[in-house]
Amino acid sequence: MQNSDSLQQGQKLSALLKQARCFLAESDSARLDAELLLAKVLEKDSVFLRTWPDFLVDEELREKYAQLLARRKNGEPIAYLLGRWEFWSLPLHVNEHTLVPRPETELLVEQALSQLPNGPYKVADLGTGSGAIALALATERPNWQLWASDFSAEALEVARANAAQLNVMNVQFGEGSWCKALPNQRFHMIVSNPPYISSDDPHLKGDGLPFEPQSALVAEKNGLKDIIDIAEQAPFKLLDDGWLMVEHGAEQGEAVREIFLSQQFRCVTTLRDLSGMERLTIGQRGKDHA
Ligand SMILES: C[S@@+](CC[C@H](N)C(=O)[O-])C[C@H]1O[C@@H](n2cnc3c(N)ncnc32)[C@H](O)[C@@H]1O
Repeated sequence: MQNSDSLQQGQKLSALLKQARCFLAESDSARLDAELLLAKVLEKDSVFLRTWPDFLVDEELREKYAQLLARRKNGEPIAYLLGRWEFWSLPLHVNEHTLVPRPETELLVEQALSQLPNGPYKVADLGTGSGAIALALATERPNWQLWASDFSAEALEVARANAAQLNVMNVQFGEGSWCKALPNQRFHMIVSNPPYISSDDPHLKGDGLPFEPQSALVAEKNGLKDIIDIAEQAPFKLLDDGWLMVEHGAEQGEAVREIFLSQQFRCVTTLRDLSGMERLTIGQRGKDHA
């Protein structure tokens, strides 16, 4: 309990952090989360927290901190509380309308970069969310023309703001469902991290997922409906020998390969992520496509 003097003067930053770590103790990331949230409230960085343990935090800021800690304890992703998240070393704004970009999606970026040598290629990112994939590709390949689409106007607003903040000029954005949002031209490559979780998957109840847009996570037909739609539509938007790359769940590799093969894609292969899980299926548009 604080006396009125300490309320007026503030409470030491080190003591606040200690309390916060105890409050979040059930979380694996209690220490980091406590620090990140205090740094946000104070508008300082982690170096400041370590350098000035005796800094006094006033009551108003302590109240803000307490509110954020309570939301974190309730399971809200730290990325939403911070309003930003890093993907491919890019600082991105995120909010409740965008999926929090996942590290495993960097496999898709790596593969897309290695699949096409450097050149003036046209590439589409379907379901761009915060813009994570498109912006990573655009910053690595300034001579690519990228088209990023989503059916969520709110997500596109975040993606556009991220492009502006990063000064990325080679991405255009479009609103609409999968390939229907693309302009009247063909692409060298189409990539997507679509929703792929089945609606009865128990994972949807844990690990911050209830706070993320369900339309970014859940797909009908055991999580495969959007992948089927994309694989059906993509041949009509790909150039000859153009590539389709789709991220999917660890258990979906075989089903996704079958979907690609049923649409006459060639060279169909599934790649594993760093945890050894089947994560990304790629295929090349067949010559006999329309
Ligand atoms: C798994 S999130 C991926 C977001 C981002 N690409 C990433 O990797 O972080 C799927 C995205 O697809 C979008 N989406 C869902 N259904 C869609 C549809 N029918 N057409 C276009 N986008 C859709 C969601 O709004 C969401 O942004």
